[in-house]
Amino acid sequence: MSRTIFVTTALPYANGSFHIGHIMEYIQADIWVRSMRMSGHTVHFVGADDAHGAPIMLKAESEKISPSELVARIAAERPKYLQGFHIKFDHWHRTNSPENIALAQEIYLQLKDAGFIESRTIEQFYDPVKKMFLPDRYIKGECPKCHAIDQYGDSCEVCSAVYAPTELIAPYSTLTKATPVLKSSEHFFFRLSDPRCVAFLQEWTNGKNAQGKPRLQSEVLSKTREWLGTGQDAEASLNDWDISRDEPYFGIPIPDAPGKYFYVWLDAPVGYLASLKSYCALQGIDFDALLDPAGDTEQVHFIGKDIVYFHALFWPAMLKFSGRKTPDALNVHGFITVSGEKMSKSRGTGISPLKYLELGMDAEWMRYYIAAKLNSHVEDMDFNPDDFIARVNSDLIGKYVNIASRAANFISRYFDGALAYHSDTNELLSLATTTAAKVRQDLEDREYSRAVRTIMAHADHINQAFDSAQPWVMAKGFSTASPEQQAALQDICSRTLAGFKALSVMLNPILPVLGNKVARELFGMERDFIWSDIHELPTHIAPFKHLLQRVDPKLMDSLLEAPAAPVVQPGGEAIAETIDIKDFAKVDLRIAKIVACEAVDGSDKLLRLSLDVGEGRLRQVFSGIKSAYQADELVGKLTVLVANLAPRKMRFGVSEGMVLAASHADDKVDSGIYILEPWPGAQPGMRIN
Ligand code: 2FM
Ligand code: ZN
Repeated sequence: MSRTIFVTTALPYANGSFHIGHIMEYIQADIWVRSMRMSGHTVHFVGADDAHGAPIMLKAESEKISPSELVARIAAERPKYLQGFHIKFDHWHRTNSPENIALAQEIYLQLKDAGFIESRTIEQFYDPVKKMFLPDRYIKGECPKCHAIDQYGDSCEVCSAVYAPTELIAPYSTLTKATPVLKSSEHFFFRLSDPRCVAFLQEWTNGKNAQGKPRLQSEVLSKTREWLGTGQDAEASLNDWDISRDEPYFGIPIPDAPGKYFYVWLDAPVGYLASLKSYCALQGIDFDALLDPAGDTEQVHFIGKDIVYFHALFWPAMLKFSGRKTPDALNVHGFITVSGEKMSKSRGTGISPLKYLELGMDAEWMRYYIAAKLNSHVEDMDFNPDDFIARVNSDLIGKYVNIASRAANFISRYFDGALAYHSDTNELLSLATTTAAKVRQDLEDREYSRAVRTIMAHADHINQAFDSAQPWVMAKGFSTASPEQQAALQDICSRTLAGFKALSVMLNPILPVLGNKVARELFGMERDFIWSDIHELPTHIAPFKHLLQRVDPKLMDSLLEAPAAPVVQPGGEAIAETIDIKDFAKVDLRIAKIVACEAVDGSDKLLRLSLDVGEGRLRQVFSGIKSAYQADELVGKLTVLVANLAPRKMRFGVSEGMVLAASHADDKVDSGIYILEPWPGAQPGMRIN
């Protein structure tokens, strides 16, 4: 029976490029989708950028662009990665789209009508300088338990204590360094504590889908049981969920609540529906009918283990109580580690998917390797470079690709590409059929590594049969050999190539580009493989063309290389030791107007400057720029002053600060001194940061 399936992957935040964890999730989902399509099922596979929230708003602000511009810029680079790794979403959308705004507001109003929204006034930390409420991650302070300094507002990285931001000692805003103040504001809550909600989630999390399979993996179910309680004590077990944020916030306005926006996690999963809706409009598909709660479309979400709470509790409840179809399966995966280490972008470890592509590494290697490592459990997957090379070179190329080249050469040379089976083919077909059935089921169950093992065992079997028949011996003196011997050669090579075709069908969801080449170029088909091709013995091949390169270990070395440190020292001087923003913030740089300037008697280096820094008085500063500037050409100009430098007593008087100027470390390269001048519009006294 043909199924209709709506598949999504988690929507990535639109404030950064994809990392290898995203690519792994998309490959996992893409393999699943391709296999389901090969079975004849209709699959709608969509993604989107998760556009909203404080980090995106603040990042855009720091780049002096609008959040929508930032989202658009990030969206523009997505196809390079997706196409690069052969990940074929039907549609890619964004959560700041008209569809999502309308759907999120509609769902909210439906939840409100059903009595699930409550408003309450709460007190939260507010940054009086930035004039915004502070999300926990923008508040730091001393841990109330172990007194480690600079700990985040929700938990301590040193002692792992979890607390409220108000418990921090000496809290400060990471945005401005200001001490946050408590301020009250009205918030909207989704009443997850409602007994209807708890009862529904008990039922949903424990339930089975239309395929008779549990909706949740056992590990995920144990988690939700922890959160939901066992059932008896369920009433009090879930906290209501704060779904509103105050302006300034980049989000979707809450209807009838000026200045209030949905918290990003309210509208993010709605983005799944918005992307599908936008896709349906383009394709002329009836969106409402497709997601009719009484219909039989299956809804499947691929996500990482860090966002289970949102997808196993909030999301089904939102859908249920707004009268919608609820998800049929959550497919949760673990994280990807590299040589056993957690990825860290700041330390430069991890694998850059972009670098992988730019080095010309084949996407199918990565797809194969990921498939060879993934199973249906919530386990972390380790990317091990040596293992990667071994699996691709020994298994994928050594066992699979090589079968074709070995057998195809005899068929092309002696039989003009014609395949013929001179002995019984029942066993050949039945073995391929049962093997493919196992693989297909394993792919559906996301037991990819088991599927790959089965495929490779089948490849071993084909290779052994080929080797023990010793076709190279049969081919010796072919033109004078007996018809029986010639037929025997054609038979073993044909069987081997039939086996290769079967393997290619099984690998097709994992290696779609290779599969496409094999189907069209080697076997002369006019379409890609589908599962039922397993039952057809090939009758002809085209001359064998190269299919897939081996991994050169040098490429892997380049991939793993940390980004090279610059060899050329800019300006003749190495960049100084890294400081954090707090260190930088200690330096108070101000716009200063040079009101007067004169040479200093008795000094051939110094000019005496009188500077207006907007303080209602003038400062005297001595600056060693006489070799580069005439005193009077500086009068009236604006420049930059280190305004909080301790005053320094000099032979000629006190210098109250330092004027900034650039110079090369080596006078022989450039002896110039270049004083800084701000762009027009800056006013004396303005702070520079
Ligand atoms: O964790 C994240 O990266 C979120 N942007 C995932 C959102 S998934 C869905 F709800 F949109
Ligand atoms: Zn602590």
